[in-house]
Amino acid sequence: MSFTKIAPMPFSPVRSMLFVPADSERKLAKGEASGADALILDLEDSVAPSRTQVAREMALDYLRQRNSDKRGRQQLWVRINPLSTPGALQDLSVIVAGAPDCVMLPKVKSAADVIQLTHYLDALEAREGVALGSIRIIPVATETAQSLFTLGTYEGCSARLCAMTWGAEDIAAELGASTNRRPDGEYDSVYEMARTLCLAGAVAAGVQPIDTIWSNFGDEEGLQRDAVTGRQRGFTGKMAIHPNQVATINAAFTPSEEEQAWSRKVVELFASHPEMGTIGLEGKMLDMPHLKQAQRVLALVKRFAS
Ligand code: COA
Ligand code: MG
Repeated sequence: MSFTKIAPMPFSPVRSMLFVPADSERKLAKGEASGADALILDLEDSVAPSRTQVAREMALDYLRQRNSDKRGRQQLWVRINPLSTPGALQDLSVIVAGAPDCVMLPKVKSAADVIQLTHYLDALEAREGVALGSIRIIPVATETAQSLFTLGTYEGCSARLCAMTWGAEDIAAELGASTNRRPDGEYDSVYEMARTLCLAGAVAAGVQPIDTIWSNFGDEEGLQRDAVTGRQRGFTGKMAIHPNQVATINAAFTPSEEEQAWSRKVVELFASHPEMGTIGLEGKMLDMPHLKQAQRVLALVKRFAS
């Protein structure tokens, strides 16, 4: 597919995004205090089909109650139904009026789906008097068989694209897999590949790579390990399904004191030696990639300072 490449708009990165089934009053009430950087009001898989219309209206009410003055640092996102179903436009025609910060699009096939959603949002923002271009898009970019072949093609598809994420459940069902795990409990290579391609695809597109959920919400240790591994690989945030997961995720994606101190040292060292491209520090060679990583860490610290 070819299209004119459009740079993404600036976007505040998020560490933790908590899914909240939008038809649950109790869960909606708990979202704000969860400490999540974003809530994902869900209209898709966590809502029974008989409750979808109620969920749309509850999501809209919630968005309106927490309009832009009352959101503070917590962004409000909405996961809509896939574009291949009539539900997608029905969802959008209700929730755009609440000016969500971002729409999560599940079961995408390629960047063409993001472009289609961009056009829908262009029209609906105009109809609802919502600031034009203000609603961002995050695709769940690995949930269909086709999607695995298109992860490197998102660069420049829409100024609204702000992040990319992946899921291991729907793609397993689509491929006909009886499980997505190996006998030792780790993801099978197919899903590790999807995870890596999503990471590289997001970075290639200049947007935030966001790691998938840890569904066993009673297993805090497993979550912590998974979150730390994700961050080490390059993911900069992770989705959650239970409020108890948020603190662990926020901690894993916030640079530690040790990392901060090291990064400050690296930046200061290069600043005080502008003539040097490579320097030794505490027995380690440093050059441009290390400086870049240190600057990235300090920028994150600034963003998440509360
Ligand atoms: N958001 C906000 N609040 C939540 C929550 C969530 N995702 N998950 C649980 N809570 C609330 C519960 O309502 C409960 O509060 P209450 O007693 O005031 O009702 C409290 O936290 C403790 O919940 P707990 O009993 O431990 O969990 P549960 O059995 O009620 O729910 C799940 C378990 C998995 C059904 C629930 O966590 C959930 O709905 N998660 C999101 C699922 C989802 O959106 N999936 C789609 C993406 S994969
Ligand atoms: Mg799903």
